[in-house]
Amino acid sequence: MDHMKNTSSVLVFFVNGKKVVDHQIDPEWTLLFYLRNKLRLCGTKSGCGEGGCGACTVMVSKYDRTNQKIIHLPVNACLAPICSMHGLAVTTVEGIGSTRTKLHPVQERIAKSHGTQCGFCTPGIVMSMYTLLRNSPKPTMKDLEVAFQGNLCRCTGYRPIMEGYKTFTEEWELIQNGNRLNGEQGNGCAMGDKCCKLQNGTTKDPEEVLFNRNEFTPYDSSQEPIFPPELKISDQYDKQYLVIKGKTVTWFRPVNLEQLLQLKKQFPGAKLVVGNTEVGVEVKFKQMVYPVIIQPVLIPEMVAITNTEKGVRIGASATFTDIETYLKNEINRLPEEKTRIFKSIVDMLNWFSGKQIRSVGALGSNIMTGSPISDMLPILMANEVTLETTIVKPEEILSAIYIPYTNSDRYCYAYKQAKRREDDIAIVNAAVNVNFEPKTDIISDINVAFGGMSYKTVTSPKTRQLKGLPWNRQTLELAFIHLQEDLPLDPGAPGGMYLYRKSLTLSLFFKAFLAISADLEKYVPHIKIDKRELSGITSFESKEYKSAQYFTVVPNTQEKSDALQRPIIHKSAYKHATGEAIFCDDIPFFENELYLAFVTSTKSHAKILSVDTTEALAMQGVHYFVSAKDLDPGKNCMGYVERDEKIFYTDIVTSQGQIIGGIVASDEISARKAARKVRIEYEDLYPVIVTIADAIKHNSFFKNPDKVIVKGDVEKAFHETPHVLEGECHISGQEHFYLETQSVVVVPKKEDQEMEIYSATQCPSQLAEAVAQLLGIQQNKIVVKAKRVGGGFGGKETKCFLLALPAAVAAVKLNRPIRCVLDRDEDIVMTGGRHPFLIKYKVAFNNEGKILGAHTKFYNNCGYSIDVSSLVLEHAMTHFQNSYNIPVVRLEGYTCKTNLPSNTAFRATGCPQAMFSAESMLQDISDYLNKDPVTLRELNLYREGDTTFYNQKHTNCTLQKCWNECLHSSRYLEKRKEVDTFNRENRYKKRGLSVIPTTYGVGFPLPHLHQAGALVLVYTDGSVLLNHGGVEMGQGVQTKMLQVASRCLEIPIEKIHTVDVSTDKVPNSTATAASVSSDLNGMAVLQACNTIKERLKPYKETNPEGTWEEWVKKAYFDRVSLSSTGYYKDWDDFGYNWDTGEGRMYNYYTYGAACCEVEIDTLTGDHQVHSVDIVMDLGESLNPAIDVGQIEGAFMQGYGLFVLEELIYSPDGTNYSRGPGTYKIPGFGNIPGEFNVSLLKGSSNSRAVYSSKAIGEPPLFLGSSVAFAIRDAIKAARKENDHSPGFKLDSPATPARIRLACQDNITSKFQEAEPGTFTPWNVLV
Ligand SMILES: Cc1cc2nc3c(=O)[nH]c(=O)nc-3n(C[C@H](O)[C@H](O)[C@H](O)COP(=O)(O)OP(=O)(O)OC[C@H]3O[C@@H](n4cnc5c(N)ncnc54)[C@H](O)[C@@H]3O)c2cc1C
Ligand code: FES
Ligand code: FES
Repeated sequence: MDHMKNTSSVLVFFVNGKKVVDHQIDPEWTLLFYLRNKLRLCGTKSGCGEGGCGACTVMVSKYDRTNQKIIHLPVNACLAPICSMHGLAVTTVEGIGSTRTKLHPVQERIAKSHGTQCGFCTPGIVMSMYTLLRNSPKPTMKDLEVAFQGNLCRCTGYRPIMEGYKTFTEEWELIQNGNRLNGEQGNGCAMGDKCCKLQNGTTKDPEEVLFNRNEFTPYDSSQEPIFPPELKISDQYDKQYLVIKGKTVTWFRPVNLEQLLQLKKQFPGAKLVVGNTEVGVEVKFKQMVYPVIIQPVLIPEMVAITNTEKGVRIGASATFTDIETYLKNEINRLPEEKTRIFKSIVDMLNWFSGKQIRSVGALGSNIMTGSPISDMLPILMANEVTLETTIVKPEEILSAIYIPYTNSDRYCYAYKQAKRREDDIAIVNAAVNVNFEPKTDIISDINVAFGGMSYKTVTSPKTRQLKGLPWNRQTLELAFIHLQEDLPLDPGAPGGMYLYRKSLTLSLFFKAFLAISADLEKYVPHIKIDKRELSGITSFESKEYKSAQYFTVVPNTQEKSDALQRPIIHKSAYKHATGEAIFCDDIPFFENELYLAFVTSTKSHAKILSVDTTEALAMQGVHYFVSAKDLDPGKNCMGYVERDEKIFYTDIVTSQGQIIGGIVASDEISARKAARKVRIEYEDLYPVIVTIADAIKHNSFFKNPDKVIVKGDVEKAFHETPHVLEGECHISGQEHFYLETQSVVVVPKKEDQEMEIYSATQCPSQLAEAVAQLLGIQQNKIVVKAKRVGGGFGGKETKCFLLALPAAVAAVKLNRPIRCVLDRDEDIVMTGGRHPFLIKYKVAFNNEGKILGAHTKFYNNCGYSIDVSSLVLEHAMTHFQNSYNIPVVRLEGYTCKTNLPSNTAFRATGCPQAMFSAESMLQDISDYLNKDPVTLRELNLYREGDTTFYNQKHTNCTLQKCWNECLHSSRYLEKRKEVDTFNRENRYKKRGLSVIPTTYGVGFPLPHLHQAGALVLVYTDGSVLLNHGGVEMGQGVQTKMLQVASRCLEIPIEKIHTVDVSTDKVPNSTATAASVSSDLNGMAVLQACNTIKERLKPYKETNPEGTWEEWVKKAYFDRVSLSSTGYYKDWDDFGYNWDTGEGRMYNYYTYGAACCEVEIDTLTGDHQVHSVDIVMDLGESLNPAIDVGQIEGAFMQGYGLFVLEELIYSPDGTNYSRGPGTYKIPGFGNIPGEFNVSLLKGSSNSRAVYSSKAIGEPPLFLGSSVAFAIRDAIKAARKENDHSPGFKLDSPATPARIRLACQDNITSKFQEAEPGTFTPWNVLV
C-alpha cells in the first residue's frame, strides 16, 4: 500500500521543549501515565481520571499549516491517549518555571494572591491560565471564566485565584493604564491608585491588603519558550501513517480518507477515537476493551469546517473549540437571521463540559455516542440537520454534519439544565425550532427535541400538530398537552427526579415561548409581552467578581523580622505552583516496589461463597493476592473507637466497597487489570438497609438511643407556651472530594523489622500504632511520615487505615515496598463521607418568637461500622441550637447502622447538619408568626453570660458584635428593599436574602487529645528545624507554626524550616483535626522555642548588638544544648461528664455571621449567588491571609453541602455519584459575585496561642446562608402564585427541590406517584 512508505511505529513528541522518541509505547497509556511514570514529571496530578477535575491539565501545542499559526490547547492528560501526541508539543507545569530558576508570572501570581492551600489542584489551574495567556496575552474576564470551567479546587473557594489572575486581564490593564497616564483622575475615579476597582472593592493601603499587586513580575509574552522549530519546519510527523502495536491494543492514525476506509474494512469493529473523552471513560470505568483504535484527526475532510451554499459543513472530527471559533465568526459576519442555529450551538457550548474537553472532543463523536443527555443532539434533531456518512459495512463512519442557515421567520432556542451550570451533564436539555408564515405569528412548522427524558434524545411529534396555529397562550397550553403525552417518564426512570424532569420539559418550552414571543413582538403588532415576563428569558447577570478582606494590620512598631499576624503566603505556595511540591504518590519509586490494587465488595449485604484468583494470578506482572489468609484471624479487625471493621472481609460483606483482598503486581496497570479478573461469588442476604427510614423500620442502631441530653422539663415548656410547632429536615451526606485521593507507600526496611510509611494521613501517630499492633512490631520501629496532604477535611483521619493496613500486610509478606493509591471512584465508594441526618423537632415559642424549649431527635446514617459516628452525633447534638439560647431541651440521638460505606469525620463533624435544623426551626417559626427571620434570629441569639444546655457559659461572647457588623457591612436593610423591588418587577426570577449566625465549640470532646509535642533543632549556622505534630493539608498549619517560632525566637521566618510530620520526631501526636492543630501545636512550638530562647538569653545579654547566628555559635562552643522539645496540654478545666452534665465541653467558641443574596430562576430551579458578606471573630489572627482563605474555602464547602452536592444511592446501596462527572462540588462559576470577609477587630482569646482562634471548621455552616437565601427567594415565588409561605426545603437545595417548591401552573400538572407503586431509581439515604 502507498502509505507503507510513510508508516511509523515510533512515537515522537516534545515535552517541555525536549524531544521524546519512544519505540516501546503501549497505546493503552494515557499522556498522564506517561508523564508521571515514564518521565517522572509528577507536577501534573491525577485527581479523577475522567476529565472532571482539571488537576492533570497540560498545554498541547501544534502547528496549523493551513493558517500558519501555532495553536495551544489546554488538555486533560488523564484522557489524552499517549499515541495522540505524535508530532505535538506538550508543556507541563515543570516546563514554564521553577523555584530553582524563575517562576512564571502565572505561578507567581497564584502563590502571592494566596490562591493555593493544599496545592494539589494548583498545577492544573496554572496550566489552564498559562494556555489562556499563550493564546491571548491580554485575556478578558470572560476568557478567564471560560478557561477555568474545567478546573476544580476543594480548598480555596476560588476567589483568591481569580483575584490574582484578573491582573492579567484587559480590564485590569485598562484601569492601570488609565491611572498611570492620567494621574489620579485616570480611571475617572478621584481616588487614583486607591480606587476601589484596584483594591478589591475597598480603599486600602498596601499594608491593609492580603497581597500587593505591585510586587508581581510583569508578564512579557515575548519571553515564552518557542514552539519546537522541528515541528514547525517539517510536516513529516503530520504525514506519517502511524501504527503502534501494544499488548492488547493497536493504534492507527491514517492520514487520508482512503486509508481510513481501508482500515475500517480490515477491522470492522475498530473504534474511532478523536478526543477520547467518551472512550477514555468507557475504558477506565466500564472496563471496555477496544483492540483496534483509529484516530482520524489528520484526515482533511473529517476536520475541515467550510461554508456551503446552504450553511456550514462541519467535519465529524472537528473539535468543539474549532467549531465555536468558526461559528462565532459566522455569527459576526452574517445577518442575525441567518445564524440562529449557530447561535444556539455557540450558546450551548458555553455550558458544554470544560475548556479542556472542548479542545479535543468532536461533534461527530458526540453524535455517534448517542448519549441521552448529549447537549448537541437536541439542537441537531430539532433543526433537522443533515449528516454525511460513509458506509463501510458493517459499520458507518460519520464524515460531516451540515448546519443550515436560518431565515427571518425561523427561530431556534436551546436550553440546558444541570445541577451545576458549568461543566455538568444535563438533567434535561431542549431545543425548539419554529418556522412562521412570513412576518406573521402563524406556525408553519415546529420541531422540538429533548435530552434527559428517555434512553435517547427524543422529539415531540405531537407538537408538530401546532402547524397553522398562532403563537399564543392557547397554543402554548396545547403544546403543554402534547409535550406531556410525548414525554412520559416512569417514576422509577433512570436518573430519578421524574417530577422535576417532567416539569422542566414544559418550563424550558415555556422559556422558548417567551423568547420567541419577544422576537415576534418586533414584527407582529398584537403580540405583547409583559415586561415582568422577560425575566423568564434573560440569564443571570454576569458577575463583577468584587471582593474585600478586612483584618487587623500589624502595628508599625512590630519588628519586620517578626512574621506573626502578617498575611504571609503559604510556605509551599511556590512549590505548589511549580509542581515541585511532593505529594504521597509523587515520591520516587523505590527499588523493587510493587503496586497494590483492591478487590472490593460489589454487594451491599451478601455472603461470600467463593473467591477465585486463578485467572488474575496467572496474568503478567502479578505477584500475589493479599487477603485475610495473611493474617492471624484475631488480627483481622480494626476501628478507631471500636474494632468493628475488618481489614479483609471473608465471609459476609455488609457494604459495597469493603476490601476482600488485593492484587499485588509490578505496576499499577497490571495490578488493576488483574484485580478486575478476581471472580467472587456471592449469595445475597437480607435485609439491605440503606436509608435512615430503613434503619428505623428495622430497628438497626448501633445504640438505641446513642445519647440523650436533658435540660429542664421540655413537656412543661410545651404545655405552658402559646405556640408549638413540629417539623423535620433531612440533610444529605457529603463526599470529602479532597483532590488527592487516599494514598500510601509502605517501605519495609532491611533491618529489625523497621518500616517507613509515607501516607496522606491526618493521623500519623495513630496509623503507626495501628500498623504496629497489626504486625506485632513495636511502635518504635514504624515511622509514619506525612509531608503534605492534598486536602483531608476529616476524610484522612480514620479512613487512611483502610489502605495502609493491607499495604503493610503485603509489604511484610513480600518484603518489598508497596504503593497503593485509590482511584477517585474507589475512594468515594470505599471511604464514606459526611453523615446524612434526619432531624425531627418539636419547638415551643412565645408570641415574639422566643424559643422556650425543644425536643429533637437526631438520626445519623453511619453506614456499616461505628467509626467516629457516636462522636459525630454528640458534636451534632451539642451544636443543634447553633447560636440560639434554647433553655430547655430534650435531645435524643440515634446512630443508624446501614449497609452503606462507613461514614466518618468531615469538617465540623455533624455540626452543620444539626445547625441546619435550628435554622429550619427558626424559619418555620418565622413563617408561622409571619415575622422577619432576621428579627427572630436576633431575638434568640446567645448573649454574654448565657449558659448552654450543657452548662457552658458564653464568656467574651462576640456573637452579637459579629451579627451587627454583618448586618451593617452587608447593607442588609437596603438590600432587603432592593430585593423586594426586584421581586415585584420580575415574574420568573426572584431574589432572596438571609443572615445566618454561627457559634462553634472548639475542641475535641476527649481531654486526652488536647496535648501536643514539638521538637526544635537549632544548627550552628543559626538555621532552625521545626518539628511538630500538625499535618499540613492546605490549612496552613506549617506556615502558622513558622510564624509562631519567628515571633518567639525573634528571627525571620526564612531561617526556620519544616520537613514533614514524622513519628520519629514527635511521638503520640494528636490527629490533625477539629480545627485545633494550630492551637495545640502552636503552644508546643512556643514552649520549645521558649526553652531555646532562655538558653540563648545570656549570650544575647552579654552581646546585645550581636546576631542570632553569633549567639547560637557561642552557645554551641559553650556546650549548650541547641535542641528542645516542647510539650503542651490544654486547660485542666477540660472534659465534660455526660452522666452528670458537669465539666467543660469546649475550650472556647468561634463566632461569626454571614449575609447572602441569591437569585433563582423559578422556571428551572437554577440559582446564582450575588453577594456574601462574612464577619468572623478569630481573636488575633496568626495569619489573616490563611484565615480568610479558610473562611472562604469553608464557606464554599458549606455552600456545596447545602446547595450543590448530592450523593445518589440506589435502593440497593449502589452509589451512582462516583466522580466529578456525577458529583458536583462548587466550581469557579459558583464564586459569589461579591465576596467580602471581615475578621472582627479588637477581639482576643486567652485560651489559644497568641490570642488566636481556631478557624478550619467554624465558618462552614455559614455556607447554609445560600440555602436560606434561596428559601427566601422561593417564598417570594410562592407568594407570586398564591401559595403558602411555609414549605419544607431539605438539604441540599438542588435545582429540583427549588423548582418543585416554586409551585405554579406547570408543576401542578404533574402528580407524585403513589409510594409503593414503583421502584424508585434512587433513595434518600
Ligand atoms: C468531563 C466531561 C464532560 C463532558 N461534558 C459533556 C457535556 O457537557 N455535554 C455533552 O453532550 N457531552 C459531554 N461529555 C461527553 C463527550 O465529551 C462528548 O460526547 C464529546 O463530543 C466526545 O468527543 P470525543 O471526540 O472526545 O469522543 P471519543 O471518545 O473520541 O469518541 C466517542 C465515540 O464516537 C465514535 N466516533 C467518533 N468519531 C466518529 C465518526 N466519525 N464516525 C463514527 N463514529 C465515531 C467513537 O468511535 C466513540 O464511540 C463530557 C465528557 C467528559 C469526559
Ligand atoms: S485527573 Fe484529569 S481531569 Fe481529573
Ligand atoms: S488548593 Fe485546590 S484542591 Fe487544595
